[in-house]
Amino acid sequence: VLVAYGSKMGGTAGIAETIAAVLRERGHDVVLSPPDRFGKDVDGAVIGSALYAGRWRRQAVRALKVIASSPPPHVWLFHSGPIGEDADEPQRPPKEVAALAEKAGAADVVTFGGRLEEPSARGFLAKAMIRNGRGGDFRDMDNVAAWAATIADTLEQ
Ligand SMILES: Cc1cc2nc3c(=O)[nH]c(=O)nc-3n(C[C@H](O)[C@H](O)[C@H](O)COP(=O)(O)O)c2cc1C
Repeated sequence: VLVAYGSKMGGTAGIAETIAAVLRERGHDVVLSPPDRFGKDVDGAVIGSALYAGRWRRQAVRALKVIASSPPPHVWLFHSGPIGEDADEPQRPPKEVAALAEKAGAADVVTFGGRLEEPSARGFLAKAMIRNGRGGDFRDMDNVAAWAATIADTLEQ
């Protein structure tokens, strides 16, 4: 199973690591990869991205394109971003991602809360948002692990 992700400040990488750990615990052979290079010969692919201004990280889109060009039997997609009161709000995928998701045969794009805090924050905007009291870690790893368990269930059917 491929688990590929696009992350700028590491928060989404942490989510991908949790997914990979659950799948490995269940006995699956996992390739965890920032989406630069990976084989296409997989039983399933999990691809995720951090959301910035409503968009996916370019590397994650690239990985999704590769997967969508000859999709494995199962493809799961997630993105991470919303913080604060919106942390549980499902986020609409960007148009290009929605089109690629359909091409890849993925059911939907699952949303997980994001993380925005020191010391990982990078960039003027990120630091300004934290100064304005919008920071925090809103990733619910139990929720992530539960989702990964449903992936393992499907792979084992
Ligand atoms: C400049 C900026 C823009 C952001 N835009 C969005 C957005 O459009 N939608 C969203 O849900 N989260 C948005 N976020 C929150 C990030 O997606 C969140 O911090 C995420 O966990 C970052 O993931 P990463 O650590 O993997 O890069 C934004 C954050 C920053 C700093």
